[in-house]
Amino acid sequence: MPAPRCRTAPWQPKVKGSLVEMTDEPLARIRENDPSGLLDDVLAMGDHLRDALWRISSAGLEEREAPMALVCGVGGSGVGGDLAAAAYGDRLTKPLIPVRGYEIPSWAPVDSLVCCSSYSGETEETLACYAAAEALGAPRIAATTGGALAEAARADGVPVIGLPGILQPRAAVAYMFAVAAEAARLAGCAPGLHAEIDSAAAHLHARREIIAARSLEIAERIGDATPIIYGSDLTDPIAYRWKCQVNENALRQCFKSSLPEADHNEIAGWGGDGGFAAVMLLDSDQHPRERERFELTGEIISATEGSPAVINSESEGETRTARMFEAVMLGDLVSLQLAARAGIDPTPVEAIDELKARLGRK
Ligand code: PA5
Repeated sequence: MPAPRCRTAPWQPKVKGSLVEMTDEPLARIRENDPSGLLDDVLAMGDHLRDALWRISSAGLEEREAPMALVCGVGGSGVGGDLAAAAYGDRLTKPLIPVRGYEIPSWAPVDSLVCCSSYSGETEETLACYAAAEALGAPRIAATTGGALAEAARADGVPVIGLPGILQPRAAVAYMFAVAAEAARLAGCAPGLHAEIDSAAAHLHARREIIAARSLEIAERIGDATPIIYGSDLTDPIAYRWKCQVNENALRQCFKSSLPEADHNEIAGWGGDGGFAAVMLLDSDQHPRERERFELTGEIISATEGSPAVINSESEGETRTARMFEAVMLGDLVSLQLAARAGIDPTPVEAIDELKARLGRK
């Protein structure tokens, strides 16, 4: 049986802590509390995007026209599917569906392209989807650093996009995004994002200092409040990414909400209980009425009892992918700033590890 097609990439995150020369003052406090160098991995997101493109093209994947692409994965390995679908937006001509769970949806056609993404290769939900896709007879690809997923793929002759093995799964977001975008291209759901991903990488490098300064500002404004991150269209999955990064890096609660939906329910819940801050993720592609809603929703929230902080954030960038990754990097840095404010090492996620151990998985 063919081995997974993983080769050595031109870019290798060899020595943690030395990848990025840190001179950015706004990030100094993060570095003091970050013994494992998670900050470097966030700042290397642009390099990760380019490395992902290289790894994808080295994996020898074949185009395979399919009625849809399903991207199976959870947590840090699941967000790539949502982000890729949002980055494509209305350029998608067929569905690109993230699957977070144990089963392939009952309505999925048997010839759907199933992409199984698990950083560790040991995540039971993703392994179950891999097996379910086999039972369905669906064509599969996998993206992982190794584990049971790589082993099964090797045995089954399923192509593997090999990922670098020294990151936290959530720090591999650029890889998971590029893999999901590629799955959509292979299935004929969209034209492919290679050029856009490459220019997003350059955009991140150029904007790094601005993003760093903004992250400190936003974290200071959030302070001790529990953030609720509002997104819409392109920024909807980004809001979810912010939430998850605050949960895992700063070890505190954070919630995600969507506009316009929140204007029909959640907005009524503001006021009285205090302790929350709203972060509004704006984007130039949002519907003009959605942008109006962001403004009015913010005004109504800040006028409630306790005058909660309402923080507007809008990324720059020519393409959806560039603006998306600017906002993703910003959210990641905000979460690290919140961790640093509390003197928390952002890397360990003991609750997740304990739960997996108790379920009998790595
Ligand atoms: O951030 C994390 O560590 C988690 O959200 C993991 O990504 C999640 O538990 C799934 O594991 P894996 O990414 O290895 O499939």
